[in-house]
Amino acid sequence: MNPSRVTLGLVNPKSATNVASILRACGCYGASAVFYTGQRYGYAKDYRADTQKIRERIPTVGVDDLISMTPKGASRIGIELVEGATPLPEFEHPDNAYYLFGPEDGSLPQEVVSACDHVIYIPTQGSMNLAATANVVLYDRMSKRDYPVGDTLIRQSRDNNNRLKIAL
Ligand SMILES: C[S@@+](CC[C@H](N)C(=O)[O-])C[C@H]1O[C@@H](n2cnc3c(N)ncnc32)[C@H](O)[C@@H]1O
Repeated sequence: MNPSRVTLGLVNPKSATNVASILRACGCYGASAVFYTGQRYGYAKDYRADTQKIRERIPTVGVDDLISMTPKGASRIGIELVEGATPLPEFEHPDNAYYLFGPEDGSLPQEVVSACDHVIYIPTQGSMNLAATANVVLYDRMSKRDYPVGDTLIRQSRDNNNRLKIAL
């Protein structure tokens, strides 16, 4: 398996809280950058929502056009409720992936969908919250690849005051 490289693209996100949740997911699952279009996140951005200051580690860049920002060698993967899309559980994620998400109050534009190499949907009843969708996609990717396991990772990942064990 080649090295994993993950970039996210967000179409005109509305909620700074959602973007902060997506940044946190990027930190947890190892994404390298987030591009976004539109002005709403720039105006609404409340960096206090990014409690772990993940934007200092993961570039969060406002751009005019998500498609022209496609990272070199990456497959564009639209995440949207689109007729004919592939259900996420059946999808094999490419090593170098650029995941594109629509806004909270809209959808991926048709020109973005048309420019994608793959279009994926999550078979939910109704649509999911934007940040929840990004978390599910990144979790699904991790679950289908080699991933670190064990107590060392648990100790590194949990809060300092968490000393829980299965049995004493
Ligand atoms: C709250 S949804 C917006 C409404 C959504 N475009 C619709 O047609 O119902 C925000 C974004 O989350 C993603 N999303 C939410 N639920 C999804 C699902 N079940 N499958 C794929 N993408 C989803 C899409 O990128 C979507 O544009």
